[in-house]
Amino acid sequence: MARSESEARCSRSHRGTELAQIAALTDSGVAEFVQVSNVSRRYGHEMAARGALMAGIAKQLGHPRGVGGRVVGLALNRGNRAFVNAAVQELHADNDAVLADVGFGGGVGLRLLLDSVGSTGRVHGVEVSDTMLTQAARRYRRDIAVGRLTLHNGSLTRLPFADGALTGALTVNTIYFVPGLGEAFTELARVIAPSGRLVVGVADPEAMAKLPFTSHGFRLRPIPEVIDTLHSAGFTVQHRRINDSNGAPHLLICTAAPTQA
Ligand SMILES: C[S@@+](CC[C@H](N)C(=O)[O-])C[C@H]1O[C@@H](n2cnc3c(N)ncnc32)[C@H](O)[C@@H]1O
Repeated sequence: MARSESEARCSRSHRGTELAQIAALTDSGVAEFVQVSNVSRRYGHEMAARGALMAGIAKQLGHPRGVGGRVVGLALNRGNRAFVNAAVQELHADNDAVLADVGFGGGVGLRLLLDSVGSTGRVHGVEVSDTMLTQAARRYRRDIAVGRLTLHNGSLTRLPFADGALTGALTVNTIYFVPGLGEAFTELARVIAPSGRLVVGVADPEAMAKLPFTSHGFRLRPIPEVIDTLHSAGFTVQHRRINDSNGAPHLLICTAAPTQA
């Protein structure tokens, strides 16, 4: 075979191998691309589903509704009992106390408040959620029947009480859902007697920011900002954590600021 013909055949066969290699690469590339895009589509769907789930949880925590809301209420009672109890203790209720839990959720605070007042004391529960109101009405029907507990459909910014009607009030894990905090604290100041107490329970904003659902609409205010807002509403504030652990919830214990002479 002449040298040039052999070279030409060699070059042809080399080109054939190259083409085969390119084809193989392209095939595997396409296969890989298809695989990657399937995975990323699946990942995208999973992320979207997770986002929707977290948004749903955030919504239920801010305003429990229906069967899901009832489950959330039970979970809140279990998870927040120690926190709510710490807030109740700070009210220092006496036998004749007239107390309110505003945004009582699953209602664990109502039981604790009822236990903290004497037989002549009275407890009020205020909620925006009909589901929580119905759940509490069933659970505490005996206390309601004897007049020790009254439930109200109301809001932190619109409380169903006369000026100075309460000797104490607490609101725990609620302010994340309130756009106008100043308005809410001014309303609480209106209904609490001059010698009364308000306890605001707030989970640690940094700890909350790490939870996957709080990016869906929670207002995580720095504690100094919340305290400033309480001062502006006329309260003197004592601040403590419920325990020494990292990220422990905060209690803001408020009394009426002394009036200037
Ligand atoms: C996260 S849950 C906390 C429930 C309970 N205090 C606890 O710590 O377990 C928040 C509750 O606040 C209620 N809530 C939200 N906005 C409110 C408002 N403006 N006034 C009164 N309650 C409110 C919701 O319906 C919900 O039951």
